[in-house]
Amino acid sequence: MTTPNSTEPHPPARREFADDFLWGCATSSYQIEGASQEDGRVESIWDRFAATPGKVRDGSSGAVACDHYHRWPEDFDIGRDMGLNAYRFSIAWPRIFSEVGGKPNEKGLDFYSRLVDGMLERGLQPWATLYHWDLPQFLQDRGGWADRATVDAYLAFVDAMTRRLGDRVQHWITHNEPWCTAMIGNYEGLHAPGLTDFKTALQVCHHVLLSHGKAVPLIRANVPDAQVGIALSLHPLRAASDSAEDRAAMLRHDGLRYRWFLDPLFGRGYPAATLDVIKDAAPVVHPGDMEAIAVPLDFLGVNYYFPETIQDAPGEGALAARVLPPQDVETTAPGWEVAPQGLADLLARIENDYHPGPMYITENGACYDDEVDADGAVHDEPRRRYLARHLAALRDVVREGVPVKGYFAWSLVDNFEWAEGYLRRFGLVHIDYATQQRRLKDSGKWYRSFLRQE
Ligand code: FCB
Repeated sequence: MTTPNSTEPHPPARREFADDFLWGCATSSYQIEGASQEDGRVESIWDRFAATPGKVRDGSSGAVACDHYHRWPEDFDIGRDMGLNAYRFSIAWPRIFSEVGGKPNEKGLDFYSRLVDGMLERGLQPWATLYHWDLPQFLQDRGGWADRATVDAYLAFVDAMTRRLGDRVQHWITHNEPWCTAMIGNYEGLHAPGLTDFKTALQVCHHVLLSHGKAVPLIRANVPDAQVGIALSLHPLRAASDSAEDRAAMLRHDGLRYRWFLDPLFGRGYPAATLDVIKDAAPVVHPGDMEAIAVPLDFLGVNYYFPETIQDAPGEGALAARVLPPQDVETTAPGWEVAPQGLADLLARIENDYHPGPMYITENGACYDDEVDADGAVHDEPRRRYLARHLAALRDVVREGVPVKGYFAWSLVDNFEWAEGYLRRFGLVHIDYATQQRRLKDSGKWYRSFLRQE
């Protein structure tokens, strides 16, 4: 982590946003629930990956995590007291299906039904993510997302969930960050299932997008007044230099990192320039797939953390482009650049390129090495600043006419940060993993004052 070098902007105030603006926090099932063997839950690819030596940095897993499966009432009380009016969560598919073609597990359905009631009782509008990376292992054993049949298995899961929760949950996110599912999991090998094949990753990506496109009408059929979208992880990009080589590398990276998702979702198909670059690794696409993917959305979810700087790197990776580590700028603990303006730039670009309709920031947040001080508090001033400055940037870009309708901070609580295990803390609430004690950090207290307009 490096220290801040920029001044704080005019602080944001809630009244500067629309009265019906949504203010939430986001979480995901595998990162917080624990109870990995309870009520009929089966193994997920993340259980398998985490159990493989060397895959998760501290050797941990989500087996217990924040024990949210049992402690959710306390967590939702904290969210309500913070003044949230929305909450984004994800549903663990392995709690619902234990085999292909089987019946949904009533205990799993009941858990999410109770969870949703718990949100509603506390004034938290439920935003359900249907896939946040915890694929059932039995599906991976048959090829996972690289196998087209997984799309049908996903639709059965979506059908079961939307039938059960559709009377109370209006807002549905089909997928969280398809880039990460596909590329980090199947090309970089750093996330489950840990594969390192570019062509497989692109096929995974296609099936994930296809499953999204096919899920949208199904959700609309099952849920009155459904609002359906997808959450993409996006970064504003800059070239490492003005050289023609670095600029070309940036465009190659942009083609796969940004256009590969947004172009097909908004009816333009996969970008031709990127197809030229990836050549034989292009996915198998059946007639009708691109039309299915281009189904109109009710909203676009944007997950923003940091900008990327791209340098030409001949012979390196599938794109001959390298993402440079940030230099001489403020960063968070994992070395991610702190760039509030990047959020505004990214949103303005998406609006300009696609006019996607309503957008929501479905994740934004920061990781620091928090400690509980002698006074029992967590004085996470850098996270408070991060939050305040990103909300100030958001306020400004909304004023310029970019239609963002809500913001979900990542995350409500510290949690299992994938390959980083419990070494990385993103919560507005601190978790003591030995005792499961929850403590509102100073950043959470700031968000509370902001939301309550104190
Ligand atoms: C995003 C993920 C989320 C969390 C944050 C820090 O990419 O969607 O689960 O890990 O990063």
